[in-house]
Amino acid sequence: MRKKVTVIGGGNVGANTAQKIAAKELADVVLVDVVEGVPQGKGLDMLESAPVEGYDVRITGTNGYEETADSDIIVITAGFPRKPGMSRDDLLLANYDVVKSATEQAVKKSPNAILILVTNPLDAMCWTALKTSGFPRERVIGMAGVLDTARFRTFIAEELNVSFENVTAMVLGGHGDTMVPLVRFTNVSGIPLDQLTDQATIDRLVQRTRDGGAEIVKYLKTGSAYYAPAASAVEMVESILKDKKKVLPCAVYLQGEYGINNLFVGVPVKLGAKGVEKIYEVSLSGDEKLALKKSADAVQELVDVLQQKVQ
Ligand code: NAI
Ligand code: 2OP
Repeated sequence: MRKKVTVIGGGNVGANTAQKIAAKELADVVLVDVVEGVPQGKGLDMLESAPVEGYDVRITGTNGYEETADSDIIVITAGFPRKPGMSRDDLLLANYDVVKSATEQAVKKSPNAILILVTNPLDAMCWTALKTSGFPRERVIGMAGVLDTARFRTFIAEELNVSFENVTAMVLGGHGDTMVPLVRFTNVSGIPLDQLTDQATIDRLVQRTRDGGAEIVKYLKTGSAYYAPAASAVEMVESILKDKKKVLPCAVYLQGEYGINNLFVGVPVKLGAKGVEKIYEVSLSGDEKLALKKSADAVQELVDVLQQKVQ
């Protein structure tokens, strides 16, 4: 039987995610949005590219959840994007309501699905979906690390004028200004980054990675990045649907790992048919541990705000 992926939010990230899933023939896709006509129109438009692009999947656009029943994966991109001058954290309360309502409706129809969160502020929205769904932590996963790592890899490849594919990097922590690009775990075909360039260049690339989302917002002015975010979400979808067991940095609910408790923070995990199949605890230096703790503290501050709202 065909796999089924629901994408909630038919805006920039959602529509691109749906289109990439179809183009790779990973699954039938249901695109859900609150705006009447938008998911239907975008869904039909994507379907009409099937004969040209040569993919055989069904794409359905809808304002409801009936059509989403028995989805294998639900990708939540619904919400409001970041505008210039706005931090990801400003989005917190507005997007809490959106993600809570979308999760409630989606999991009723697909109680065995795996949830992939994209909506910002990412780590706090993962917490919202976990608490709302009551799903085990293996089935609630946040997309941010794949994107942040892709940005770091891009900047390194451009700087060194080498293939993007040769660059392996690791970015841990929350999806915010305190994210932790780990230079010690970053290499080009096995050659450590610090043997390929000087410290000042590395520092510049690390900072550009931290500012990667804001850099795109500054250019676009009316919204935030969506091509690389959609590609990143689809890499996670593909690893799960094909049980590829890729090791990717994802936001997962930590319960003691890295000394962090009951918080979503980005760390390397194995993604397979069951969702998160393993959390890797890499050995960190004192400075790296401190940076990860600072990042987790920033996530905790947002969750504290949400917990007060829930009470
Ligand atoms: P967008 O504004 O283009 O699309 C959002 C869509 O959500 C809109 O079409 C809107 O109608 C829809 N929506 C709002 N409330 C809804 C509800 N209750 N149910 C269903 N749909 C609803 O925004 P974009 O660019 O697609 O970004 C979406 C979210 O993803 C934002 O929160 C953004 O900050 C976040 N994001 C996160 C990234 C990450 O690395 N985790 C990367 C890029 C974006
Ligand atoms: C990004 O990093 C806005 O979180 C989004 O592009």
